[in-house]
Amino acid sequence: MNKLVSLALGAAILLTTSISAQASSEPIEPIVAAKIQNPAIVELGKKLYFDPRLSKSGFISCNSCHNLSMGGTDNLKTSIGHNWQQGPINSPTVLNSSMNIAQFWDGRAKDLKAQAGGPIANPGEMASNHQLAVEVLQSIPAYVIEFKAAFGSDKIDIDKVTTAIAAFEATLVTPDSRFDKWLKGDKKALNNDELAGYKLFKDSGCTACHNGAAVGGNSFQKFGVVEAYKTASTAAGRVAVTGKDADRFYFKVPTLRNVELTYPYFHDGAAATLGEAVDIMGRIQLGKSFSAEENGKIVAFLKTLTGKQPSFQMPILPPSTDKTPRPQPFGK
Ligand code: HEC
Ligand code: HEC
Repeated sequence: MNKLVSLALGAAILLTTSISAQASSEPIEPIVAAKIQNPAIVELGKKLYFDPRLSKSGFISCNSCHNLSMGGTDNLKTSIGHNWQQGPINSPTVLNSSMNIAQFWDGRAKDLKAQAGGPIANPGEMASNHQLAVEVLQSIPAYVIEFKAAFGSDKIDIDKVTTAIAAFEATLVTPDSRFDKWLKGDKKALNNDELAGYKLFKDSGCTACHNGAAVGGNSFQKFGVVEAYKTASTAAGRVAVTGKDADRFYFKVPTLRNVELTYPYFHDGAAATLGEAVDIMGRIQLGKSFSAEENGKIVAFLKTLTGKQPSFQMPILPPSTDKTPRPQPFGK
């Protein structure tokens, strides 16, 4: 064999081994840390995410309902909107939401940017409108400077606002969970109960819907496959987007990353605990009744999916000016 051929052969072997080492046989992949492409846009998006002046009341920010100190949720059954309105549906986590096939329980927004304009103008959430939100920002010179630095233009518009918020949200990923450490070869990262829970999770068929890096988020599935789900919520799921009756009660499969932190569960927030959610999933999605011990093991496994939470300095927001439209915290 000449030297060149044997070198090429060696390279080919190396290549196949590295591929097979990467393509693990597990249905769940580790989360890759976020790479920040444009720090100026991300920093601006972080401020906007925390700025309650994007709401009519001057009190509600994205972080009010997707609290980054609490797993990117509000931990309420359904959210509290403008004027203390009772929201219709549970607030999903923003953590790892960049991996979702689409945004919202029914997938009606195609990506984070398309989603971000919604809550600002939703009368039941932040109750502002895009024109007013832009007017507020444009009246604050420090924001104008930041928009210019980020986008090369000092004309603020809702497109730039949602681009920046989405860029910040794309950084909200949670790598390095104990489960990911195990996936990457640290066999001591999980204890026996957690491992047994993972095996039950796979062998029972949970991974048919909860798989990939986000352990969900990548498909729409029927809620109530074997048995109908009983709820007082009027949310009909994917049918609201497609108009097809076959999509009734299909919801985006939620990510199970950080699920320990994102209680209560389901689109109606009806399951208060993880044990309850696992019990319902087993029965109505798979026709399986788990014993208390099996349930405990699955819950123990699910808790190993809590990753490194995004952490950063609290953004300090630039002050309003004499020209800034005043907040209207009370009344409709
Ligand atoms: C009043 C509470 C509230 C506020 C304020 C709010 N959200 Fe939400 N958010 C929700 C609820 C509830 C949903 C689910 C709605 C649905 O699916 O129909 C949601 C859904 C989302 C989703 C989709 C996640 C997924 O997995 O589908 C993202 C992303 C998101 N919000 C980001 C934001 C951003 C960015 C802001 C600020 C501009 C914001 N939210 C403000 C309550 C809120
Ligand atoms: C056929 C698809 C499917 C299977 C199989 C399935 N799930 Fe789910 N899972 C879903 C869907 C869809 C939802 C969201 C339901 C809703 O609230 O509308 C969900 C929600 C959940 C939630 C709540 C997450 C949250 O943030 O609200 C947990 C926990 C969960 N599943 C765990 C499991 C476990 C454990 C199993 C196996 C015993 C399992 N799932 C099997 C589709 C599935």
